[in-house]
Amino acid sequence: MLIIGDKEADAVRDVIKSGKMFRYHEGGQCDRFEKRWGEYLNTKFVSMTASGTNALTAALAGLSIGPGDEVLVPALTYMATPIAVLAVGAIPVLVDVDESTCMDPIAMEEAIGPRTKAAIPVHMWGQPCDMRSIMRVARKHKLLICEDACQAVGGGYQGKKLGSIGHVGAFSFNYFKNMTCGEGGAVVTNTRAIAEKVKCMVDPCSFYWKGKGTWRPFVANGARASEFEGAIMNVQLDRLPSMLKKLQAQKKRILKEAAKTNLKLTPTHSPDDECATCNSFLLPTEKQAQEFATLAGGGIMGKTGRHVYLNWDPIFDHSASHHDALNPFKFKENKGCRMTYTEDMCARSLDILNRTVMIGNHPSRKALEVTAIIKRIKDAAKTVLG
Ligand SMILES: Cc1ncc(COP(=O)(O)O)c(C=O)c1O
Repeated sequence: MLIIGDKEADAVRDVIKSGKMFRYHEGGQCDRFEKRWGEYLNTKFVSMTASGTNALTAALAGLSIGPGDEVLVPALTYMATPIAVLAVGAIPVLVDVDESTCMDPIAMEEAIGPRTKAAIPVHMWGQPCDMRSIMRVARKHKLLICEDACQAVGGGYQGKKLGSIGHVGAFSFNYFKNMTCGEGGAVVTNTRAIAEKVKCMVDPCSFYWKGKGTWRPFVANGARASEFEGAIMNVQLDRLPSMLKKLQAQKKRILKEAAKTNLKLTPTHSPDDECATCNSFLLPTEKQAQEFATLAGGGIMGKTGRHVYLNWDPIFDHSASHHDALNPFKFKENKGCRMTYTEDMCARSLDILNRTVMIGNHPSRKALEVTAIIKRIKDAAKTVLG
């Protein structure tokens, strides 16, 4: 969470006072946010969801991913990314990240097999993937791209907004994200056929309220957003551009000073467009990374638990459903898919992540606080690297 306050509280109070708490009420807050978020991203279709996990699942369904398909996911992401693949009946195949800590386009291309239908590049910690290379690989191999922009809400890549570059994009608005309403998410796309399937996934009964459109409704779980989510998100969107500007300025100042030391900065693909929610550094050894993190007040990326593939127990255990008959790992259609997960399968990612130190940024930080962080980084770098 970056900033939230009275304006959001007022917006929620207004919804309660209006009595219009259902998202299909005319002139509602969700409709307004969907329109505005589409304008911000330059995408035609936006569907709000109850969470980022719902958004990813609906996005993959929108791409018609299902049993018999493999989907490439990076070794570093929240477990919701591979979970969404399994939720639509397909099988996640793990791919190494590179020093940018995002999916390595070379490893992505090497991982493509006869069953691979899609890939989910994840813009981790607000840093964009190398989308130019990823889209080149996708075009060459006819892969569908679902951007997981859950950790990079509002960020960009070479002049485009994250989430708008692939065939479909997914966002989370949970507590930890750049814009938040506690829990929430959205799917974005420029393709009507994808958008219609997504809408049905998000609310299979929506045709009662919104008409049938051109897509024949199908059965799905549903993950409709509430008007409270819409109301808060409209205020959060007002705040977003200035918050990101502050984060970018803070990161630039910190990295400019860090570059004067012997530290190696984590490469970023579009420094002027990224969210700048954290600064990261690649140390020569794990021991030095640990020492630097302790002295500079940072965290080791490889020790962030749930984000590292080693901790995705249900995936490793093939526990992909409450019921055996619904478990994609047991589907006959998935027999030819690669589904063995081992601890050393992405050893290169582990090596990079265990040597990468992150130090977070915050838009409310005062100039003097940033000066103190810079001093800590410089002192730590001198002690550890000379
Ligand atoms: C990269 C990534 N993908 C997906 C999700 C899932 O979002 P949610 O928690 O809103 O379901 C998260 C949430 O932290 C995430 O970080």
